[in-house]
Amino acid sequence: MTKPIIELKNVTRNFSAGTQTISVLKSVSLTIMPGEMVAIMGASGSGKSTLMNIIGCLDKPSSGEVYINGIATHQADSASLAELRSRWLGFIFQRYHLMPYLTAEENIAIPALYTAMPADERQARIALLAEKLGIDTRLEHKPAQLSGGQQQRVSVCRALMNGAQIILADEPTGALDSASGRALMDVLHQLNADGHTVIIVTHDRDVAQQAQRIIEISDGQIVTDNTQDARESGEIQLLPVVGVNGRASLSRSLLESVRMAWRSLLGHRMRAFLSMLGIIIGISSVVSSMAVGEGARQTIMNEIGKLGNTTLEIRPGLGWGSKRPDMERALSLDDISSLSKESWVLGVSPVVTSMTTAIRQSFASSIILSGVSDDYFSLQGIRFITGNGFTRQDIDSREPVLILDETSKEVLFPGEEDPLGQIVQIKGAPWRVIGVASKPGPKVVSGFMSAWIPYTSLLQRITGDKPLEALTLRFQETLAPQEAGLRTERLLIRAHGKKDFFVQTDEQLAKALQKTSNSMSLLVTAIAAISLLVGGVGVMNIMLVSVTERTHEIGIRLSVGARPSDIMHQFLIEAVLICTLGGVIGVLGAWAAGNVFALLTTEFSMVFTWLPVIMACSFSALIGLTFGYFPARRAARLNPTEALARE
Ligand SMILES: Nc1ncnc2c1ncn2[C@@H]1O[C@H](COP(=O)(O)OP(=O)(O)O)[C@@H](O)[C@H]1O
Ligand SMILES: [Mg+2]
Repeated sequence: MTKPIIELKNVTRNFSAGTQTISVLKSVSLTIMPGEMVAIMGASGSGKSTLMNIIGCLDKPSSGEVYINGIATHQADSASLAELRSRWLGFIFQRYHLMPYLTAEENIAIPALYTAMPADERQARIALLAEKLGIDTRLEHKPAQLSGGQQQRVSVCRALMNGAQIILADEPTGALDSASGRALMDVLHQLNADGHTVIIVTHDRDVAQQAQRIIEISDGQIVTDNTQDARESGEIQLLPVVGVNGRASLSRSLLESVRMAWRSLLGHRMRAFLSMLGIIIGISSVVSSMAVGEGARQTIMNEIGKLGNTTLEIRPGLGWGSKRPDMERALSLDDISSLSKESWVLGVSPVVTSMTTAIRQSFASSIILSGVSDDYFSLQGIRFITGNGFTRQDIDSREPVLILDETSKEVLFPGEEDPLGQIVQIKGAPWRVIGVASKPGPKVVSGFMSAWIPYTSLLQRITGDKPLEALTLRFQETLAPQEAGLRTERLLIRAHGKKDFFVQTDEQLAKALQKTSNSMSLLVTAIAAISLLVGGVGVMNIMLVSVTERTHEIGIRLSVGARPSDIMHQFLIEAVLICTLGGVIGVLGAWAAGNVFALLTTEFSMVFTWLPVIMACSFSALIGLTFGYFPARRAARLNPTEALARE
């Protein structure tokens, strides 16, 4: 004996409208056998669509029992209902419900994408169905490029994609002209003859007459149920289930979600771009500021590297932060002579500075004078533009001689080729210019002029007795900076009897600079993180709008067998895709900015490293995941019938 394919027992469906409850279906009981062709008739508002939605597992009864092929759907969870819709049910709607941004072929394929049907089998089945329904030449068209009859054929193909033992057609001819309507009815007859169980909702008596069985409902109750020509039960045979070998695997479903998300992005380009904008700006500012930071760091490191890393500085006190008046005079000229005796020391120079005024003709300007020894220039790697450094003789006899830097040369001798031998007045005495040199290190724009003079001349002629501010020492290249520092410390502690000075090597200087640049990047990163957060909120906003706008699409997907988790994946992946794409565009933007920057200045460049780029892209994907979650969950929780009703 054949079992019923659809069985309803005392099904009621109530809707609450405001304070009152309206009963749309009132204790409906119904049995449909496999292979039947049933027409459900009734006036508008009599409850036909509600009944259809319950049979189609899009809706659940308020009370009563529903069995589809023996499975109790009134108790099933949303995933099992999705499974039933996917395997057993095919919907044909009055308004076709095709996705406007997909081609006919892609629309037909959707039900199969949620199953494990292999791609080649899917393509073959699409071709077969399209040919059967005479739309094989229209597969590349979008719905808007098709006539109503053609669109309805596409939707029939989609309904049949996974087999569809039960075809549910809700007013399928309602929007068609009479010729197309007749053609569609022929198709449904053919499908019924092939073994599909067909249920048609209609208010058109001519359409209903074509079914073997007409059920009339009025005000939520079945009033007549006439079987016109009973079939012999021997004729009825179940259709084999087509191609549906269970659910798509997770990796496949994710891959399909990426493709769907991509299609939907292409379908809404402007909106996608706008939602990306925040992320693009955020990411490009992070990446470019990090690149600027890295460029600056490398420039500084290069300059330090040029010194050969073989100099160190000795300063009084215990470190930069602590001012110790009792240690102010820790360094003396004796230290210079004892350090100079060491074989590994190539030169030592004291440094004493003073700020004073230099006058040339009637022009006066502030100048920083550094008192140094004759060794200083070679050990600091200072390059002479013209003239020479001091001689031993200049130091010993405290000569009033002056070596200008480039800034003071420009200020005091503007436009003059060679200031050698010229006189500058300092402290009321004439000083002779014997050279012009350029300071090493990155060019810092500052209005300050500076010049070098013998330290002996400074102490005697300008400041009077004054403690030494630092000693600069150059050591042999074969010695490691750390070792040189240790040797210096040991020697001076022995000489002073205590540690009242500190040694700073270039390496330490580099480390200090690195530290500053690190804390700078941290700050930049924090600012960027905030801007990315704002971008993420923007993405969430637009995704929420997108969910609302695409409620109808979600309804369609649910009706062809998508599970709530599939919908969740799709929207989540769409958000991740938007953000990642935004991140990639942001990185490219920063890189383009770097190239423009390089054209404009050669002082220093932006240096792109992989780490910030990779971090930026993964971070933006994470933002998509985080901020896409809420809209995606909202999409997944939509009620299928309500979603479908929304246009
Ligand atoms: N989600 C709903 N909430 C409240 N009322 C509903 C809902 N869906 C349908 N109804 C009501 O149920 C009745 C039957 O609707 P429906 O089944 O769509 O009728 P038909 O398809 O026969 O025209 C109508 O009065 C309609 O207003
Ligand atoms: Mg209806």
